[in-house]
Amino acid sequence: SSSLPVFSHDEVTKHRSLEDGVWVTYKGGVYDVTEFVPIHPGGNKILLAAGGALEPFWALYAVHDQEYVLEILSQYKVGEL
Ligand code: HEM
Repeated sequence: SSSLPVFSHDEVTKHRSLEDGVWVTYKGGVYDVTEFVPIHPGGNKILLAAGGALEPFWALYAVHDQEYVLEILSQYKVGEL
């Protein structure tokens, strides 16, 4: 993971639609979850976090507080903040 590129917050905010790609951040990691959006068990709510941080939303939806959810997220890592 040390070889992944570093992105600015500004770059991440450009990716908040299926057209431009759906990127999210979590604990300093950057994730391109575009391919996951159609299969998210919580449906299009995932788009509320598009272009920004997952933490405020996952604090509200504790269903994500499971190891396997982080394993899913890790598959989509594209960089670091
Ligand atoms: C459920 C993953 C973002 C709202 C789930 C589940 C997974 C998941 C695996 C099923 C959990 C279970 O029942 O065991 C993800 C990932 C996300 C993401 C990888 C980001 C990349 C979000 C966001 C929101 C959200 C940003 C809200 C704004 C929900 C809700 C459910 C859910 C409401 C429950 C759906 C139901 O059981 O009816 N998510 N989620 N998720 N997610 Fe997400």
